[in-house]
Amino acid sequence: MSDGNPETINRQWLLKRRPHGMVSEDDFEYRETPLPEPDLAAGEILVRNLYLGFDPAMRGWMTDARSYIPPVPLGEPMRAVAVAEVIASENPAYPTGSLVQGLYGWQDYAVARPDDPVPPMALPEGTPPTMPLSILGMTSLTAYFGLLDVGQPQAGETVLVSGAAGATGSVVVQIAKIKGCRVVGIAGGEEKCQWVRDSCGADAVIDYHSENVTARLGELCPDGINVFFDNVGGEILEAGIEHIADFGRIVLCGQIAAYNDAEPRPGPHNMMYLVARRVRMQGFIVMDYLDRMDEAMHDLMTWMGEGRLAWREDIQEGFENIPATLLRLYDGRNQGKQLLKLAEPSTPG
Ligand SMILES: NC(=O)c1ccc[n+]([C@@H]2O[C@H](COP(=O)([O-])OP(=O)(O)OC[C@H]3O[C@@H](n4cnc5c(N)ncnc54)[C@H](OP(=O)(O)O)[C@@H]3O)[C@@H](O)[C@H]2O)c1
Repeated sequence: MSDGNPETINRQWLLKRRPHGMVSEDDFEYRETPLPEPDLAAGEILVRNLYLGFDPAMRGWMTDARSYIPPVPLGEPMRAVAVAEVIASENPAYPTGSLVQGLYGWQDYAVARPDDPVPPMALPEGTPPTMPLSILGMTSLTAYFGLLDVGQPQAGETVLVSGAAGATGSVVVQIAKIKGCRVVGIAGGEEKCQWVRDSCGADAVIDYHSENVTARLGELCPDGINVFFDNVGGEILEAGIEHIADFGRIVLCGQIAAYNDAEPRPGPHNMMYLVARRVRMQGFIVMDYLDRMDEAMHDLMTWMGEGRLAWREDIQEGFENIPATLLRLYDGRNQGKQLLKLAEPSTPG
């Protein structure tokens, strides 16, 4: 693998095959191509990726099942969110040297157009390049709208959050605390549980690696769970259903425990509780809320300014490590938002 001479080549990781079961590095293929033509059409920009963001949903984008977004075509660079620097521009909205965010994929360079399905998002001058992928990124918007719009927590209610140490879950914990709720988190391992308790302010945290989640929920939530924000699915969803309160709300954000299953697993055995306790269980996709993004950004930036939001960025490095970095999400090695650094901006922000 070359070191990515910025003058001449574009390094890429392509989707080679659709995984069956756990995604592996062998599902991707490395390729070097010439740098995209700097001979841009009107409106186009040439960008150089600086930071890649990794999302559990990427495993779903690799399959060809019907979903909210088309699958990544085989032989194409793996789709991924990136913060990139504009290095050539035929569009005055995105001047050379400015930073943009978009779906630029696992490669050094991409040509972006204003009519792309996800148009380039210009980042305000001075924005630290990792922030639009982490605390001011999609995962925080997911936490904000999933909890407040779908979950509708009321002050004094008990909120349960699975995946509580992750990019999405940790922000859910903190927004629920800001809204005056009692919060119980579930995370894997003592270090993560301690961070959720001490830095994110959860009232209690269950380590699902070493504790019986159903039994602990019984002890910690004797009056039931009013809102369950579930990032995980499987047995953890089943445990939450077991202790859901009357008129509880279950927010189905993700099912990471099942993303790499080769065969569909049986559903929760205790769905009758949802009937008897008059529970609402609802999935959502953050992209449906993009027209309300300013509302969330305003609140998130206010809370950040007040020092009320903690977050962690897990920044890997090296183009050769891109596929392996995706795998970190599925065994919980990531500590906070999973990112990979490819380059620094050439001009300081
Ligand atoms: N609905 C939407 O629009 C939307 C948008 C963004 C994200 N999501 C979903 O939100 C969830 C969290 O995403 P994120 O980007 O914030 O990632 P993340 O939580 O930062 O990272 C994933 C975490 O999931 C946990 N995990 C992995 N495999 C697991 C398993 N088998 N059982 C239990 N936990 C497991 C690990 O934490 P532990 O070490 O604690 O196990 C891992 O660190 C995902 O389900 C994702 O698909 C949904």
